[in-house]
Amino acid sequence: MRRDEHSFGVYVHWPFCLSKCPYCDFNSHVRHAAPDEARFVRAYQGELATLAARTGPRTVTSIFFGGGTPSLMQPASVAAILDAVALHFSVAADAEITLEANPTSVEAARFRGYRAAGVNRVSLGVQALDDGALQRLGRTHTAAEALAAVAIARASFARYSFDLIYAREQQTPEAWTAELKRAIAEAAEHLSLYQLTVEPDTPFAGLRAAGKLALPAPDCARALYELTQDICAQAGLPAYEVSNHARAGAECRHNLTYWRMHEYAGIGPGAHGRLDIGNARHASATEKRPEAWLMRVESLGHGLVTDDVLTREEIADEFLLMGLRLTEGIDPRSYARIAGRGLDPRRLAILNQEGAVEMTADGRLRVTPAGFPVLDAVVADLAA
Ligand SMILES: C[S@@+](CC[C@H](N)C(=O)[O-])C[C@H]1O[C@@H](n2cnc3c(N)ncnc32)[C@H](O)[C@@H]1O
Ligand code: SF4
Repeated sequence: MRRDEHSFGVYVHWPFCLSKCPYCDFNSHVRHAAPDEARFVRAYQGELATLAARTGPRTVTSIFFGGGTPSLMQPASVAAILDAVALHFSVAADAEITLEANPTSVEAARFRGYRAAGVNRVSLGVQALDDGALQRLGRTHTAAEALAAVAIARASFARYSFDLIYAREQQTPEAWTAELKRAIAEAAEHLSLYQLTVEPDTPFAGLRAAGKLALPAPDCARALYELTQDICAQAGLPAYEVSNHARAGAECRHNLTYWRMHEYAGIGPGAHGRLDIGNARHASATEKRPEAWLMRVESLGHGLVTDDVLTREEIADEFLLMGLRLTEGIDPRSYARIAGRGLDPRRLAILNQEGAVEMTADGRLRVTPAGFPVLDAVVADLAA
């Protein structure tokens, strides 16, 4: 996807999981009884119809089933949602259609069904290639099962990616190097490598507060981050975003849409959107609680609880916050057009002297490898 090509993504959130991982603060819920999938599918179809009436004609360039655990959905449900997208919008011939999957054998068995439904890319939550670590992360699969799921993904889809979490309990640089190299040997074109974040109000936050979570110290975590960048770059999978690595041209187009601040719609419980309607950029969010979302859609035709028109300042801040996550950086002229003023040359000069940002030969501003570990501070400084 060319950088300047306008993209329009559709995000579909499936909010259920079989169990809740103790580090996770995504909008994911465990239910004792299986959710009424057909009823949920009708609600997704309803939200898509309402969305299309609002946006008017659009060409969808990517669709992303995220969660939660969308690989708990029946392939027929995924097919029905994709049919509804195609009914209301035109879908680009080369649209990227990704589904996030958990690597248990039951779910991997559905991969062919997803492919038949139109999914052309899977993103697997492998998380670790060590059984002890998987257990401590509360995962219900083993490393062998995860690798078996990766093999099925490889056989079923032209494109696949998987996620690992690093800077885990007691993880040494040596152990992570071996694990990452093993992962790279299994990867094709894309890997997502997340540093473990202890999110507030999760069981991990409680464990840490009780002194029962021995995570690497910040300087060790930073060393693991730098090791990750070096090993991946050497293997031909350089970072194109803080936590995402790909061969050139194999970046996740859906996520690029977020980071490049193009348009996306979010359907399903707790989904966010950024839509240009009229001359305004709208930031939307739907009801998070699955059953409340369902009832809202059934009575109103949509699950929106927030639909704010963003100010110029807010759009400009998001443009920096999202764009500077990418190694391609941002075009300062686009920033000036959005903000109505250019970036402060004095602040830019200081950040440049500190080695945190640089200008590329084609006039883009990007964060340097040394600046990425302090990205939040760089963005805050530029946006102030
Ligand atoms: C929406 S989640 C999960 C997808 C899928 N349900 C799974 O767990 O395999 C997407 C990814 O975010 C990452 N993630 C979630 N919580 C995290 C945390 N606290 N720290 C770092 N990475 C996290 C995991 O790698 C996960 O695969
Ligand atoms: S990490 Fe994935 S499987 Fe675990 S609770 Fe979060 S969304 Fe569900």
